[in-house]
Amino acid sequence: MELKEVLKARRSIRKYKDEPVSKEDIDYLLHAAMSGPSACNRTPWEFYVITNKETLEKLRKASRFSNINAPLAIVVCGNLSRALPSQLSPYWIQDCSAATENILLAATDLKLGSLWCGIHPQKRAEQRVSEILSLTEKQVPLNIIYIGHPDETLEPRDQYKEANVHYL
Ligand SMILES: Cc1cc2nc3c(=O)[nH]c(=O)nc-3n(C[C@H](O)[C@H](O)[C@H](O)COP(=O)(O)O)c2cc1C
Repeated sequence: MELKEVLKARRSIRKYKDEPVSKEDIDYLLHAAMSGPSACNRTPWEFYVITNKETLEKLRKASRFSNINAPLAIVVCGNLSRALPSQLSPYWIQDCSAATENILLAATDLKLGSLWCGIHPQKRAEQRVSEILSLTEKQVPLNIIYIGHPDETLEPRDQYKEANVHYL
């Protein structure tokens, strides 16, 4: 697919077929993630790739909005020990968000469905995901990305709004 088609075709898919995502496709998604920009190139991201059904089931209960039945979840975490120092540290969120969007677009390109479920800054959800994945204190889960073969069709769309643009 051309990029301009991918951008419109990416939609939040919440229904998935019970069909695994291939190892080759997972590798493509992770390469896409780590192609993203990061402040001062600190690459403070880590990716937990989850296909284990028990762990997926636990993640579904991590937040009120993460109850999705997909064959694959990638939890994107910021590792604060690799983030920029002091007041620049929160750049890890933007770095990990850029990596996340790359995963969503790469999944769309592979005709896979995907969904970004936010975890940080919901403290209780962060704690639950940290426990499920045995994260250290330095690792903060930004989101759960669900991925799989879609079992629903959402139309491509363009949400362009002139009012949100300011030309100077
Ligand atoms: C930071 C962030 C957090 C989100 N968290 C959730 C979530 O917890 N559960 C969910 O079903 N969708 C979640 N979404 C998906 C949004 O609801 C979705 O992107 C939005 O409704 C626009 O629809 P679209 O992605 O199909 O264009 C999240 C999206 C973002 C960017």
